[in-house]
Amino acid sequence: MDLIDGNQIATAIIAELKAEVAAIGGRKPCLALVRVGEDPASISYVKKKEKTAAEIGVTSRVILPPVSITQAELFKLIDDLNADAAVDGILVQSPLPKHIDEVKVFRRVSPDKDVDGFNTINLGKVAQEDDTGFVACTPAGIMELLARSGVDLKGKHVVVLGRSLIVGKPIALLALQKRAGANGTVTVCHSATANLPAITRQADVLIAAIGRPEFVTAEMVKPGAVVIDVGVNRVPDPSKKTGYRLTGDVAFATVARQCAKITPVPGGVGPMTVAMLMKNTVKAFRMQALAARGG
Ligand code: GUN
Repeated sequence: MDLIDGNQIATAIIAELKAEVAAIGGRKPCLALVRVGEDPASISYVKKKEKTAAEIGVTSRVILPPVSITQAELFKLIDDLNADAAVDGILVQSPLPKHIDEVKVFRRVSPDKDVDGFNTINLGKVAQEDDTGFVACTPAGIMELLARSGVDLKGKHVVVLGRSLIVGKPIALLALQKRAGANGTVTVCHSATANLPAITRQADVLIAAIGRPEFVTAEMVKPGAVVIDVGVNRVPDPSKKTGYRLTGDVAFATVARQCAKITPVPGGVGPMTVAMLMKNTVKAFRMQALAARGG
């Protein structure tokens, strides 16, 4: 079994981006990070994004509205960032408080600055195989992991567990695209899928994105399959200083014994997501610079 090392691959991408940003004269790309409230996981994700931006030379602007912010106030904040020529990319960290409609917030972000790829236009461009948009960071990171690990989806049965807007739906569309590295035959499973293990056992490439700790067991995986674990679950563990441990959607110890390649948690898909966010931010910067020149 080969371990797909997300840290190593993300480090390579970050080094490429760092060189690219260093060559930009004048104003550097700028990413606005909006984090509403004090969700502990969101605090740590946004910190990581800030730190990686600094490492690459991307300017970040962190905005921390209180949990009591209204939807109208959040829309106004996004409108101001959309109109701000010094901001290239905007990311509103999910989850948002219950009183805010998350999808409406994602739609409010200008498609040209939507480095998260959650806006309707950018999701639509993935379906249309139009490269001028932004692909959501986690699915883009999975495709990059597969490409850089020598996994070609052509002719393979790709089974996706989960149909979320952030991972399940876009990764299914990407795996299906008619282009090098993709061309997969895709099945998407979800909470209403009957006979799930019978389907997952047919997967040449299994992508688990359901947010249920160690849900995928060895009996659900075909020997020799490639397993991509998108889950980041916090499981209580009194032996840890933090009081919890991180585990994926896959029972790693037993599944790893029989698959060809697998991503660990942490250190698999997670680091790639941040690297792809930076890649999208640099892309947004370039597109905005081109538009400003009338290109
Ligand atoms: N929460 C979990 N993953 C993501 C992501 O990729 N982007 C944002 N904005 N929030 C998230």
